[in-house]
Amino acid sequence: MKILITGGAGFIGSNFVRHILASYPDYDVVNFDKLTYAGNLENLSDCESSDRYSFVKGDICDPEALKKLEFDSIVHFAAESHVDRSILDSQPFLQTNVMGTVMLLEEAKRRDCTFLHVSTDEVYGSIGEGYFYEDSPLMPNSPYAASKASSDLLVRSYIKTHKIKGLITRCSNNYGPFQFPEKLIPLVILNAVNKRPIPVYGDGMNVRDWIYVVDHCRAVDAVLHRGESGEVYNVGCKNEMTNIRLVELILGKVAEKLGRDEKEVLSLIEYVDDRKGHDRRYAIDPKKMEDSTGWKPETDFADGIASTIEWYLSNQKWWERITSGDYMNYYKAQYGDRLKR
Ligand code: NAD
Ligand code: TYD
Repeated sequence: MKILITGGAGFIGSNFVRHILASYPDYDVVNFDKLTYAGNLENLSDCESSDRYSFVKGDICDPEALKKLEFDSIVHFAAESHVDRSILDSQPFLQTNVMGTVMLLEEAKRRDCTFLHVSTDEVYGSIGEGYFYEDSPLMPNSPYAASKASSDLLVRSYIKTHKIKGLITRCSNNYGPFQFPEKLIPLVILNAVNKRPIPVYGDGMNVRDWIYVVDHCRAVDAVLHRGESGEVYNVGCKNEMTNIRLVELILGKVAEKLGRDEKEVLSLIEYVDDRKGHDRRYAIDPKKMEDSTGWKPETDFADGIASTIEWYLSNQKWWERITSGDYMNYYKAQYGDRLKR
């Protein structure tokens, strides 16, 4: 099998490229990525020497570039992925997440190949109690979630109308190595290391279900090989946590690792104005995924977060290069007026 992985230079995509190369010695991988601010080929430096791996720089919105690629199935990760950026400017989200997905669907139709669409639990919106199931209504609240919900519906329409073989996964919040430090967990680790204030939005009581990125990659693999065309699969591990509890837990571990006073590290927390339209709680039921593919998450949160913290502490050059560029402009636009310190 030759898999086209879109967005393979990003956080989850790069972990997935590594997972496929290690798990299937007879598979080839083509990583197609535009290398936006979030795409980084350093994430795959250990894969470059493999003769089963190739990289092509390109935009999923460019049909001519897609036509030139050789592959027999598509796993689609490429997206604008950060909610806060979608609040600042939704346009790139519509372009890549909606139009880019349509271009890929057209290519899947033309070649009659499998299309696995990597989506998110955020398409369901927020839930006070209980869980969302695969047939729950889509009620996205951020421009990011709305663009992903739109792409999910387009995938469904190509399955129904054009009879392509399509599958959709909707995963909860990922954490692990190579995550861009605009997302909560790496941002907290790096701000703690750099003794910068740690912005907690609103009252810090929003709830997310955190899954280790490798477990998500194993889930996408399971759906690719054992999923049924036309089906949607929720991927999560019922590992719910409030943001403030998560932040305090990370800060405690960073303090311990660096031999710093825990109180001093915790004092970096600063409550800031809430995110606009901030979803209170995401929660999905992964039972269908577990029953129909046999997948189960394997990484215990305590182990996953410890190894993630260790990874960021040991890979300073990786994040220093990222945070030395345009990142600080984004950081100032996002937090400049909100942080008091
Ligand atoms: P990311 O922002 O780290 O990576 C996105 C990648 O897509 C980057 O390498 C970027 O260069 C590439 N890209 C962006 N626009 C492109 C375009 N027009 N053409 C080609 N490449 C382009 O994102 P991530 O966190 O790895 O998320 C990957 C996918 O998983 C997304 O579809 C996201 O919606 C979904 N997802 C993410 C999470 C999460 O917690 N991060 C959870 C569930 C689902
Ligand atoms: P994030 O990692 O952006 O993921 P998502 O919004 O897709 O769930 O944020 C996770 C949670 O952390 C979310 O409730 C927003 C909150 N958050 C903060 O409190 N402070 C921050 O600086 C960031 C980036 C997020």
